[in-house]
Amino acid sequence: MEVIIKANPELASQLAAQIIAHTIEKKPNTVLGLATGATPLSLYQELINLHKNNGLDFSRVHTFNLDEYVGVAPNHPASYHFFMEKNLFSNVNIPNTQRHIPDGMACNIPQHCIDYENRIRQVGGIDIQILGIGSDGHIGFNEPSSSLASRTRIKTLAGATLEDNKKYFHDLQTPPRHAITMGIGTIMEAKDILLLAFGSKKAQIVSEMVEGPISAMVPASVLQMHPSAKIILDEESAALLKRRDYYNDVYRHKPAWQKFE
Ligand code: F6R
Repeated sequence: MEVIIKANPELASQLAAQIIAHTIEKKPNTVLGLATGATPLSLYQELINLHKNNGLDFSRVHTFNLDEYVGVAPNHPASYHFFMEKNLFSNVNIPNTQRHIPDGMACNIPQHCIDYENRIRQVGGIDIQILGIGSDGHIGFNEPSSSLASRTRIKTLAGATLEDNKKYFHDLQTPPRHAITMGIGTIMEAKDILLLAFGSKKAQIVSEMVEGPISAMVPASVLQMHPSAKIILDEESAALLKRRDYYNDVYRHKPAWQKFE
């Protein structure tokens, strides 16, 4: 686990975008694992800028999103289909057929989850998985107590998540109680992982993820076992890390060939 602390979310997002761009330049058919939520918004904007201003070409890139609500149509503004279209897909050149998001309207959800995993395997597995972290330590919709070996499946949303989401679904009689999410085992198979976390609200859970014990009660702590996970933070989310001086030292003294900036 490599912990990289940048002065602010903008610089952190720029670094993540550079890492992704560098990978796409080396391997034009890169397979990206994508997240939604507030955290990756500036990263997506950076990727759009690199596409528009520097010619970063996504035409051979494949994408797989982490999750989607069950029973929410793709054209609903709170669906993750809608989010991705608005915040990334409509602004870069990833062909439609190469974008994958779990289908929250699937009739046979268990079969759909098997097919989703198979599609990831068919394109050679995820090269870079982008992650955010929930304040309870979830990654994807893998809430605390999720199996650390879980695969793509349906999950029941935790009470706090339901409460947070209510505001987005005021037009629906029954807000979604379930989501389809890549499992923790699925996420752990990505070759590289970039987890981003920003702001003081994430400081406590970031310290548990990085410096606490590995536990299903903090699903993101499993990333301690990943051979190539970068945790990219701003100063605020890194504030409670005990070994932050060491992480800064490691980053400062990295050999030039390992750097992306
Ligand atoms: C999103 C996802 C979630 C979020 C997490 C953090 O696809 O899977 O795990 O990454 O809830 O959300 P934000 O970034 O809004 O704090």
